[in-house]
Amino acid sequence: MLAESAAMQIEAVKTAYRRYARIYDMVFGAVLQPGRRAVLEALKLKSGDRVLEVGVGTGISLPLYPRDVRITGIDVSSEMLGRARARVERARLANVEALLEMDAEAMTFPDASFDKVVAMYVVSVVPRPAKLLEELHRVCRPDGEIFVVNHFQSENPVMGTLERLLGGFSSQIGFDPQVDLRQLVPAGGADVSRVNLFWKMVRLRNGVSHKL
Ligand SMILES: C[S@@+](CC[C@H](N)C(=O)[O-])C[C@H]1O[C@@H](n2cnc3c(N)ncnc32)[C@H](O)[C@@H]1O
Repeated sequence: MLAESAAMQIEAVKTAYRRYARIYDMVFGAVLQPGRRAVLEALKLKSGDRVLEVGVGTGISLPLYPRDVRITGIDVSSEMLGRARARVERARLANVEALLEMDAEAMTFPDASFDKVVAMYVVSVVPRPAKLLEELHRVCRPDGEIFVVNHFQSENPVMGTLERLLGGFSSQIGFDPQVDLRQLVPAGGADVSRVNLFWKMVRLRNGVSHKL
């Protein structure tokens, strides 16, 4: 039953991003850029590092990576990936090794495939955020790092009310504004910093248990 409803939600995500793909960069390009930049800075990548970006979308972050790291991107939306592939070709990003259509909650990569794993603005879009986190840990090497940037449920009562109202339309808008960070990551289990009023960046060391 759970698997069936998750599959239905993935279909809803694909439908939403099929519609968004053409206008995504115009609408969400600049507004989400501070979080992408914050992650790229915090990653402290070394030459030769293998990075996985889940929910890579139109590949808008790909030009931000140093040219001497190897990047794999995955997404469930073939339309978003189409945009990412065109960007890679246009900008001649030879460091992007693969862009694959794959569900981040059930990845086909072997364990410990990547040095660093990144999920930007994806946690509130997937049907099962805890399952996503579990997969991010699995494919990251044991002492690697995972970076998440996302909107999490606010503790401010006014914001909380707005989020609850917006939450009623989550399937139409394509994301859940009420993901509770404390449910995903145990207290003290991660470094959390604020990107701005709306977005937080979470840095998780692999090898530490973050399961629910
Ligand atoms: C809000 S967009 C973020 C795109 C990009 N990371 C950015 O910074 O603009 C969310 C992306 O996650 C993708 N996505 C949603 N659920 C997914 C899943 N289960 N597995 C992989 N990608 C997923 C969507 O197709 C979409 O491209």
